[in-house]
Amino acid sequence: MNSAVIINIAYILSAALFIYGLKELSSPATARRGNFISSVGMFIAVVVTLFNQGILEYQWIILGIAIGGLIGAAAARTVAMTAMPEMVALFNGFGGLASLLVGWVALYGAGTTTFTIITIILSVLIGGVTFTGSIIAWGKLSGKIDGKPILFSGQQIFNTLLMLGILVCGVLFALEPTNLTYLYVIIALSFVFGIMFVIPIGGGDMPVVISLLNSYSGLAACAAGFAINNLLLIVAGSLVGASGIILTKIMCKAMNRSLSNVLFSGFGSPKQIAGEVEGTVKPIVAEDAFYILEAASNVLVVPGYGMAVAQAQHVVKELQELLEKNGCEVVYGVHPVAGRMPGHMNVLLAEADVSYDVLMEMDSVNPRMENFDVAIVIGANDVVNPAAREDESSPLFGMPIINVDIARTVFVLKRSMAAGFAGVQNPLFFKENTRMLFGDAKESISQVIREFSG
Ligand code: TAP
Repeated sequence: MNSAVIINIAYILSAALFIYGLKELSSPATARRGNFISSVGMFIAVVVTLFNQGILEYQWIILGIAIGGLIGAAAARTVAMTAMPEMVALFNGFGGLASLLVGWVALYGAGTTTFTIITIILSVLIGGVTFTGSIIAWGKLSGKIDGKPILFSGQQIFNTLLMLGILVCGVLFALEPTNLTYLYVIIALSFVFGIMFVIPIGGGDMPVVISLLNSYSGLAACAAGFAINNLLLIVAGSLVGASGIILTKIMCKAMNRSLSNVLFSGFGSPKQIAGEVEGTVKPIVAEDAFYILEAASNVLVVPGYGMAVAQAQHVVKELQELLEKNGCEVVYGVHPVAGRMPGHMNVLLAEADVSYDVLMEMDSVNPRMENFDVAIVIGANDVVNPAAREDESSPLFGMPIINVDIARTVFVLKRSMAAGFAGVQNPLFFKENTRMLFGDAKESISQVIREFSG
């Protein structure tokens, strides 16, 4: 068997491991194994590629692996769970830059056809946009850049001219590939385009943008795979491209917004509370909450962004244990866009060692909602807003929510009557069966725990 056949067989094995790993990543219980399986696939792919006879010098490759490996390991060990989207944004960006460089270097390979030139232009263009777009997204998420959408007059004309410039240079470069000036201009314009793509989007929408840029980094890798004629890079790039766009779509659907609304409306910026609701709010104190919880036999916990702000996950777990000791069944209802990043609540609850068995998706808890004695809403707001179901004029109308208002009693733990991310009033707070436990979520739960201990 010659080495080309061995390499291709190893590539097929790697691709199969990627696909199986991705499947395992779709559940929190198997995600770690999925990550490991995919990385074994990548290890095989890298090692086998290094045996390629075309490689003449290894010292630069070894140096690159050592430096990259050290940075990656240090970043993964030190990053806070809540800063994960920022790290993903940075890594995405560098993935795009890597594809740009691979595409560029393909120019110096043997026999560049028009097809190769087109794939080089695509990898450089998408890679460049991904690089600078991801850096801006990282800056907005980490607060290093103002999260407000940046809009200026003539922005659309500027963007159209940018695209035209890229198109014209692309055609000229395809006609005259020896003139590298065209390529340099495409690289420069793609960097500017990446910045222009992300600055008009509000900081709150960055998780969606990062997921979209993740998809772009896959497409850039796929184009680079065509440019250097590497099958596995094409497969891996397509998998990243497809999974990124699926995640983007899931997030948009769960927020009941279209992708164009996320990208072009400047939505994710702070706003005033909209909408009027009639009724009275019924505040309670920790002692009242304790008496009701002590008598409950089924409790649903619905965490939201406020649980992350309060870092209340550990006390939530403590309360869960106390309730269970008291003979009560406790489950968690996790909304797909609760918090500010995909899997935000899952990550926090995993950090507090909450078992995956008690984490339930929105579609599993909603049908049994009326059987819950108490639904405890911890810092969630939009994801439990009944206006999404009842009020056609609400911006949230149509968004699937966790129907806590149908539970027998609802406790809402938050600090004030302030609105959530969408900036709309929540009629849940005024419902007959709702009790408001005002205060920082961690402090309020700690007080209830003290009542239990007392
Ligand atoms: P939100 O609707 O943002 O509400 C969070 C609530 O937490 C606020 O009303 C706030 O009220 C309360 N809070 C803040 N700090 C608190 C603390 N220390 N203790 C107690 N409560 C506190 O959260 P949600 O229900 O999780 O909904 C998520 C929103 O983000 C949705 O609109 C979603 O579309 C959007 N979004 C999500 C994602 C992803 S991927 N998850 C991405 C982009 C946008 P007080 O100020 O009164 O305390």
